[in-house]
Amino acid sequence: MLIKHKHSWHETENSVTDESAYLSRRTIIGGLAAAGVAATAPMALAQKNRVLAPLAARPTAYQSSESLTPEAAITQYNNYYEFGTGKGDPFENAWRLQPKPWTIQVDGLVDKPGTYSLEDLVDFNALEDRIYRLRCVEAWSMVVPWIGVPLASVLKKIQPQSGAKYVRFETLADTKQMPGLRWPVLDWPYVEGLRMDEAMNDLALLAVGLYGKEIPNQNGAPVRLVVPWKYGFKSIKSIVRISLTDREPRTSWNVSAPREYGFYSNVNPEVDHPRWSQKRERRIGEFGRRETLKFNGYGEMVADMYAGMDLSAKY
Ligand code: MTE
Repeated sequence: MLIKHKHSWHETENSVTDESAYLSRRTIIGGLAAAGVAATAPMALAQKNRVLAPLAARPTAYQSSESLTPEAAITQYNNYYEFGTGKGDPFENAWRLQPKPWTIQVDGLVDKPGTYSLEDLVDFNALEDRIYRLRCVEAWSMVVPWIGVPLASVLKKIQPQSGAKYVRFETLADTKQMPGLRWPVLDWPYVEGLRMDEAMNDLALLAVGLYGKEIPNQNGAPVRLVVPWKYGFKSIKSIVRISLTDREPRTSWNVSAPREYGFYSNVNPEVDHPRWSQKRERRIGEFGRRETLKFNGYGEMVADMYAGMDLSAKY
């Protein structure tokens, strides 16, 4: 159950999880060294983990009574195909990504187009802590403590025009930094999109951090989308372009397998993916399976947007 309130981060269960994450992190770095993995990868990752701001300085907009997934699992079990299709590939390869400095091109139906620095678009003095469930179409899930700003706050800055109906996002596609681009597993650059009302929904977050620190490369540094009522693949990483359009954007997953991945991709236990049942999910770190909730449990905040739509056709 998701509860919206403004208590501080410290008043939750997190002190315990922080410690276990810290311990597992040490174990993992030790384990990698023992396995003979080049020292550059974990060292490069460690450099990125700068603390973002004192925790007390940030409001906590969304809380959860569920246990957080350990940091080591969130940062080492990833889908980021630009760095390889294996779950461990992004952790191993994403040290090549250069997230600073970072610019984002803004174009299409906006009054303020241009090339913005990340800091111009995202107000780092207004970051919020938000605990969200992430549910992957592959039927695993996590609970993640993100740090970010509402996407709506960024859209307000760039001033969408009245004809804008969709937001299209694009990930960096640089073969020098992203070895996975050599393989045509997806239509590169990775593209995702939201309808305007979805993008303006308060739950839609542009994340720049997790677990109190800057977001690690493999999780989408320096800025990624998080839309917790949709399957994980809608949460596009390392965004370099935001475009406002009047037409539904063609998304990478939809282009590669239209029967499997629709534009909406709302978490829905009633509509199975051709290869994975969507009725249950395995929470990373738990035994057994739990029931998947419609809209990933966020229905109260999002179901209205889909009233009257046939979600088995608009999957
Ligand atoms: N964004 C890009 N650019 N490339 C990707 O391969 N994978 C998606 C999404 N965003 C992906 C991406 C998928 S399938 C999932 S489940 C989530 O990222 C995983 O996010 P995480 O690695 O932070 O758990």
